[in-house]
Amino acid sequence: MRVHIADHPLITHKLTVLRDARTPSPVFRQLTEELVTLLAYEATRNVRVAPVQITTPVTTTTGVRIDEPRPIVVPILRAGLGMLEGMVKLLPTAEVGFLGMVRDEQTLQPTTYAERLPADLSDRQCFVLDPMLATGGSLGAAMEFLFARGAQDITAICLLGTPEGIAKIEEQVGDRDVTLVLGARDERLNEHGYIVPGLGDAGDRLYGTV
Ligand code: URA
Repeated sequence: MRVHIADHPLITHKLTVLRDARTPSPVFRQLTEELVTLLAYEATRNVRVAPVQITTPVTTTTGVRIDEPRPIVVPILRAGLGMLEGMVKLLPTAEVGFLGMVRDEQTLQPTTYAERLPADLSDRQCFVLDPMLATGGSLGAAMEFLFARGAQDITAICLLGTPEGIAKIEEQVGDRDVTLVLGARDERLNEHGYIVPGLGDAGDRLYGTV
């Protein structure tokens, strides 16, 4: 598994404002979108392209365009939805699929409560959006769901991750083709399952339910 942790002052600056408990939802949403666009630059480094011939006002030349089959962007509901606009801004031709994950209170295992994805993902590059990689439970389950549909190339974009969550995903995916792109690796997970220092509950902060 490849792990890329952003190291850029613009990203750190935006994350700092995002972390601040006083930042209101509209600003939080805007910053999330901007951060995802910046992280998508790295996450799409290996997006498949095909050569094309074009004519400029001066001459003909070759360039590239995003190849078929189209990449697929998969926000994990609910908080991953806040990352969608920032991603499709950079990858407007991508297809969008949806995956809703919830933790079963009895078994404590994440289960899928909603999905809208193609049946066969074997030749698709998948970009999963999940802002908070905390325990790794829901992201890991989402990846297993995509693998079960044949996915062979998954990149996850998270705003924040913990060492515990990264290690869990690493162990789970083994030698499969997975890339994690993170805005920052935080210190740890606390006893309530929150990322420290973190930013609180990303869904609540995005949608104003605090
Ligand atoms: N999910 C969140 O939204 N925040 C955390 O800190 C951990 C998981």
